[in-house]
Amino acid sequence: MRILFHDLTLDPEPWLAALRLAFPQADVALWQPGAPQADYALVWAPPQQLLDEQPRLKALFNIAAGVDALLKLRLPAGVPVFRLDDAGMAVQMAEYVAQAVIRFYRELDAVQADAQAGRWQQRQPQPRAQCPVGVMGLGVLGQRVLRGLQAFDFPLRGWSRTPKHMEGVQTFAGPEQWHEFLAGSRVLVNLLPLTPETENILNRSSLSRLLPGAYLINVARGRHLVDEDLLALLDNRHLVGALLDVFRQEPLPAEHPFWREPRIRITPHTSARTLQQESLSQMVAKMAALQAGAKPESLGGLVRPQVGY
Ligand code: GLV
Repeated sequence: MRILFHDLTLDPEPWLAALRLAFPQADVALWQPGAPQADYALVWAPPQQLLDEQPRLKALFNIAAGVDALLKLRLPAGVPVFRLDDAGMAVQMAEYVAQAVIRFYRELDAVQADAQAGRWQQRQPQPRAQCPVGVMGLGVLGQRVLRGLQAFDFPLRGWSRTPKHMEGVQTFAGPEQWHEFLAGSRVLVNLLPLTPETENILNRSSLSRLLPGAYLINVARGRHLVDEDLLALLDNRHLVGALLDVFRQEPLPAEHPFWREPRIRITPHTSARTLQQESLSQMVAKMAALQAGAKPESLGGLVRPQVGY
């Protein structure tokens, strides 16, 4: 069995070593142009050449949850593609979003500014009912985020492409219920996959439907958000702030106006990191199952290219 690895964003050595340990009989190698035909490839943002040269893969593994970068390419026909399915990301996403919602709700940025200025100033508690949180995307990440927020009794709402039921969460689905979902949300959390339908979904028209004094948390992809529209809605004070973890261009260029807007807080695409051990053990288990004859459809995280995730 031959396994190829290609991810220019991380040190490949520990990944290769772990794969060799899991499959001692396998030939495990970093991808090079002209590499011999492999059975499996583990990739992040591969060159088109890799896909073109590997038409007989038994499966292609995306070393991330989002497959938008991969689906922009021409995939080898009939090769099943898997994305990371939680692999330790969901709990990270839940803790990141919980801290962001609490930071907003408890006005901790303002409290910190007071402290830095040497001001002892207590703030009036805001009624929790006035802080409904709406989560876009009810997959494994969105559901885990909502479960985390349930501990704090915020009114919770969720929106997804197809109808989903979640105990304790008011759910909405499809374009028909999009406006109704927005109109009752004060904090908006984006966890959607990036597809042609969701690109630019966070724009002036959608964001201005949120409850006044709204707050945006984008932890999905930068191309969901129309940057100028966010700045305009902060200017007219319909939104009071945003926490952004993802950007159209990463790293965010030094001249981008987001760096100079104090109501926008920035983190460097760090809300849910790919964890080596969890990710590898998930991919290794799937390769072992496929080797043993399992059907790709029976394994979690199978990408449906026609749906876009
Ligand atoms: C990170 O952005 C991922 O898609 O896993």
